[in-house]
Amino acid sequence: MNYQELYNRSLEHPEKFWEAQAKEITWFEFPENILSEDEQGFYRWYTGGKLNTAYLALDYHVANGKADHTALIYDSPVTETVRKYTFRQLRDEVALFAGVLKKQGVTAGDTVVIYMPMIPEAAIAMLACARLGAVHSVVFGGFAPHELAIRIDDAQPKVIVSASCGIEFTKVIPYKPLLDAAIEEASHQPQATIIYQRPMCQAQLQEGQDLDWITVMQAAEPAECVPVDATHPLYILYTSGTTGKPKGIVRDNGGHAVAMKFSLKYVYGVNPEDVYWAASDVGWVVGHSYIVYAPLISGVTTVMFEGKPIKTPDAGTFWRVIEQHKVNTFFTAPTAFRAIRKEDSEGALAQKYDLSSLRTVFLAGERCDIATYQWLTDLLKVPVIDHWWQTESGWPMLANMVGVALQPIKPGSACTPVTGYDVRVLNEAGDECAPNEEGAVVIKYPLPPGCLPTLWRDPQRFREAYLSTFEGYYLSGDGGYKDEDGYVFVMGRIDDVINVAGHRLSTGEMEEIVSSHHAVAECAVIGIADSLKGQIPVGLVVLKDGVTTDAHQLESELVQSIRQQIGAVACFKRAIVVKRLPKTRSGKILRKILRYIADGRSFNMPSTIDDPAILEEIKTNLQTQHIGMAFTA
Ligand code: COA
Ligand code: AMP
Repeated sequence: MNYQELYNRSLEHPEKFWEAQAKEITWFEFPENILSEDEQGFYRWYTGGKLNTAYLALDYHVANGKADHTALIYDSPVTETVRKYTFRQLRDEVALFAGVLKKQGVTAGDTVVIYMPMIPEAAIAMLACARLGAVHSVVFGGFAPHELAIRIDDAQPKVIVSASCGIEFTKVIPYKPLLDAAIEEASHQPQATIIYQRPMCQAQLQEGQDLDWITVMQAAEPAECVPVDATHPLYILYTSGTTGKPKGIVRDNGGHAVAMKFSLKYVYGVNPEDVYWAASDVGWVVGHSYIVYAPLISGVTTVMFEGKPIKTPDAGTFWRVIEQHKVNTFFTAPTAFRAIRKEDSEGALAQKYDLSSLRTVFLAGERCDIATYQWLTDLLKVPVIDHWWQTESGWPMLANMVGVALQPIKPGSACTPVTGYDVRVLNEAGDECAPNEEGAVVIKYPLPPGCLPTLWRDPQRFREAYLSTFEGYYLSGDGGYKDEDGYVFVMGRIDDVINVAGHRLSTGEMEEIVSSHHAVAECAVIGIADSLKGQIPVGLVVLKDGVTTDAHQLESELVQSIRQQIGAVACFKRAIVVKRLPKTRSGKILRKILRYIADGRSFNMPSTIDDPAILEEIKTNLQTQHIGMAFTA
């Protein structure tokens, strides 16, 4: 098959193309329309179709010869556990937990928040919701109670499912106190919470509010799959926007199921008998799409890994898992390999294992830096594929589609557009940039199946945030360029979002927290380059007139506030006091210039800057404090 031919077909005849792909999954009722507009003017795929995502992921395989095939391998070095589920076993667990939820009054369209570590019960809870047509919203375990509370108030769950604890390296983190604090802060109150008790930490359950997972499962009756409309939401996944209010990305059932099956085969080149491993977390979109839904819908064995790339127990843990479970396709974030490389620069640990099953490595979450790409390629001698996508898309937008044919790899580029995505690079006037000229990376609307149709209960924000900057185009929020061969290089966000260790965070939200400190007049939080985590946030703070405060004390108070309100995952560790911030004459803070100074990159002095001398002051400040690549390397 030829990539260009397939790609052209998907853009020239999208309805025909995606009708054929829709036939690759089983529907209770095949869609009446392939692509149509809803009453808001947003595009919708497959209206009139009826299906059930959990049926496709489990029951379908049980009924079609794969009942005893391994569906999920739970590998947890932090608890020294390996547990396998066949499709039948997983279906039975999911049907029972769906029965538990049903008994709590959960029906199609109700929401359920899931706040869990990387244990199979998290996937079981997600699939149980899908079975009932309920809408799950998984919240990453590294978020603090305040973040969880925001999501509870927006999603308004009937039930919350959680566990007694998560494990970070060797540290046991009790989840129940965090959950209790979030529920106390939230205005919306769930009818019940269901807690999975883990042996290393027992949560205190409150009579009348908390249910014990194991007890309720013992008393449960299995529930059947409920057919839902193709456009019915499968899940909401909150992701960082430019403000303190995260965006509730909606995923529908029909387009998502088609995109999952299509992408696993054509982008990742995965065959039905393969073992697929995405080392991510169910709290992120990678976990939704490529730990749970895509492999299971495709009848492929998925690995669910509860550990870190290093220290669990060592930097050879990834290689051990690949050997032990004969992983064929592996997906993680570049930061994970940078962590491994830091501990085992020669890759000696990889030599200890038989990695012959491994065909391809995929990287996403941030741009793969060339040094990491080179190190991995030399070490593994398999194609290392950088591919670009977002929570919003749910599946890759730029990739080397190895399932079609491997194209030449250009390090630093996430390759060419994936079938269905008309990716362009536009300048500020909305015209297409010339080759190698940087601009905003956008996608011609409509987006293909599986991408967000709207934001949860906020169509206005969907329109404003994504569709209003360039008429007829979806704004990705990333900047980059296309070279003369059509390869796209995504260079980083052009808004107030940063990627820290593959985790997407909002500097705008951090600024709101920092600014609320009584001593702070104004601030800028910028993401600066970091050799391990890709980016880390740093706060530049201007004090209120007349306020004298110890800078170290202030820094530690701000660090604490961000940890308490967003979570440790924000990695906010530095805040320095500066006299002034550089601004345009209209008062806009020049954050990009601050970033360039910290990273030691050259820049053109903006003609709109009100006082260029400020930049020298800031540079000296960063230098004295050893902040930024320019002053630490
Ligand atoms: N629950 C509770 N706390 C969590 C957490 C979770 N699920 N995830 C992270 N945290 C905490 C960590 O314990 C740490 O806390 P600390 O400041 O008290 O030490 C903090 O959040 C920062 O975590 P992280 O940025 O992950 O740093 P780390 O030093 O623990 O690990 C890496 C560094 C590179 C090994 C790790 O970030 C990693 O494996 N990244 C890959 C990410 C990934 O797969 N992303 C998905 C995109 S594909
Ligand atoms: P998330 O929604 O958490 O998946 O984060 C999406 C963001 O991560 C994108 O908008 C990019 O900024 C960044 N990103 C993900 N993959 C890549 C990649 N391969 N290259 C460059 N940036 C990436």
